[in-house]
Amino acid sequence: MYKDRIRHTALESRIMSAEQAATLFRSGMTVGMSGFTKAGDCKALPEALAQRAREDGLRLTVVTGASLGNDNDGMMAQAGLLERRMPFQADATLRKAINSGRVMFMDQHLSETVEQLRCGHLPGIDVAVVEAVAIREDGSIVPTTSVGNTASFVQQARKVIVELNLAMPLALEGLHDIYLPEDRPNRQPIPLTSVSQRIGTTSIPVDPERIAAIVITHSDDSPSANLPPDAETQAIARHVVDFFSAEVAAGRLTPSLLPLQAGIGTIANAVLHGLLESSFSGMTMYSEVLQDSSFELLDSGQFTFASASSITLSEEMNRKFLQNVDRYASRLILRPQEISNHPEIVRRLGIIGINTALEFDIYGNVNSTHVSGTHMMNGIGGSGDFARNAHLSIFVTKSVAKDGAISSVVPMVTHVDHTEHDVDIVATEWGLADLRGLAPRERAALIIERCVHPDYREMLRSYHARACAAGGHTPHLLAEAFEWHQRYATTGSMREAIAEPA
Ligand code: COA
Repeated sequence: MYKDRIRHTALESRIMSAEQAATLFRSGMTVGMSGFTKAGDCKALPEALAQRAREDGLRLTVVTGASLGNDNDGMMAQAGLLERRMPFQADATLRKAINSGRVMFMDQHLSETVEQLRCGHLPGIDVAVVEAVAIREDGSIVPTTSVGNTASFVQQARKVIVELNLAMPLALEGLHDIYLPEDRPNRQPIPLTSVSQRIGTTSIPVDPERIAAIVITHSDDSPSANLPPDAETQAIARHVVDFFSAEVAAGRLTPSLLPLQAGIGTIANAVLHGLLESSFSGMTMYSEVLQDSSFELLDSGQFTFASASSITLSEEMNRKFLQNVDRYASRLILRPQEISNHPEIVRRLGIIGINTALEFDIYGNVNSTHVSGTHMMNGIGGSGDFARNAHLSIFVTKSVAKDGAISSVVPMVTHVDHTEHDVDIVATEWGLADLRGLAPRERAALIIERCVHPDYREMLRSYHARACAAGGHTPHLLAEAFEWHQRYATTGSMREAIAEPA
């Protein structure tokens, strides 16, 4: 079954069960696991390690590319395995454990984790656990549907455990481009000047002596949970597409736009989906995740190339992709997340970043992570890597959440992930505000008129007018700035109570 996949034959002697491999761990270790937004995560070791946590109290720091699939994050949190977790997650059970203080979570820019590991700001990786399609003659490892931080984990770890997943087609081999920057201070410029350029190797080099175990699995990635586009997300997409058309008409963009990045989730996926209806062609994607919409645009021919760090698809799209990898292979590259999200490259290529906000404020500061300023949703992911360095930094969100009880546009965000300085455009289903070249007072006026739900527009007009009367470059009424969030906490709605008639 695996003869054509373990080509360094001496390594066959290291095949063992996940339970046997789990005995190589002890409490306090830092483990680097493959996996990025549900793609390419390990399928067997997480459960075997969780079992050890249940039986003998094993506690680990787990570092990944991004969120894991197959309920691994929730299952490991539930078992008490996770002492510390970084740099991203998107699991309801783990979220609860983080917000109750049981798991220490470090929410990091996704391009930065390995940089911090490399220079010793974080404890080194003791064991790397990585999913692979194959191990080549020289021992090098071919990853599956994501690269994430895997190459750096393998480079840095004292021991490497490979999960060889027989459910992943060998056709994936050749898709990856592994390049790791040199250590500072002698680092050279990353020699990548176009989306489709290859600058590295197709497998992860490793001294075979460090491969301590090989575990054979046969299991699919879990599907993405994105909802299909609805009336609101379609309206947001239309505003963004209209904005691009106006930019083309003004001569600031061409019909192939500039390389696109789209964040995770239902809304960003729907915005890309909206490009299917557009007349733009020859587009490319330089992003961290490829979702269903990216493949629809490759299929329609509007995307000529897509570069990312992972492929996270619905069940149906995933089946279609895995059965037809050859059809896409010449138009796809999977890179380490350090490269897919690298500020140097994002700035050089002139990426158009489209990310989703939980809330933004009247001046354009964005909160992507903390519900009501305190409770972690998922994490900043790569949004900051792109937003700060993008040619155009766009943030989208529905104007209200929780059936209208929450306005996504507020007087002041309760947590800032992206400052107003990193935000060029904001859009909701009501409209789009182009904030380029505007001072704070002008930004606020435009955001309130274009993006706010009518139920909250008058309340924000009043807030802004009174704040401006009190003065300031970025006028606020500090005693009132978080009143909306407090009202939601106490009454269940940000709406003001309507006074009873006398
Ligand atoms: N306050 C409280 N909850 C809010 C909210 C707000 N202002 N705005 C949205 N939500 C809730 C929604 O109600 C929904 O809750 P549910 O899961 O209980 O239904 C949840 O947040 C997700 O919102 P949804 O509207 O479905 O959007 P999404 O799937 O596109 O996700 C983010 C939006 C912000 C959570 C997601 O994009 C994210 O985690 N972003 C940060 C990471 C990132 O940007 N990475 C980009 C590079 S990959």
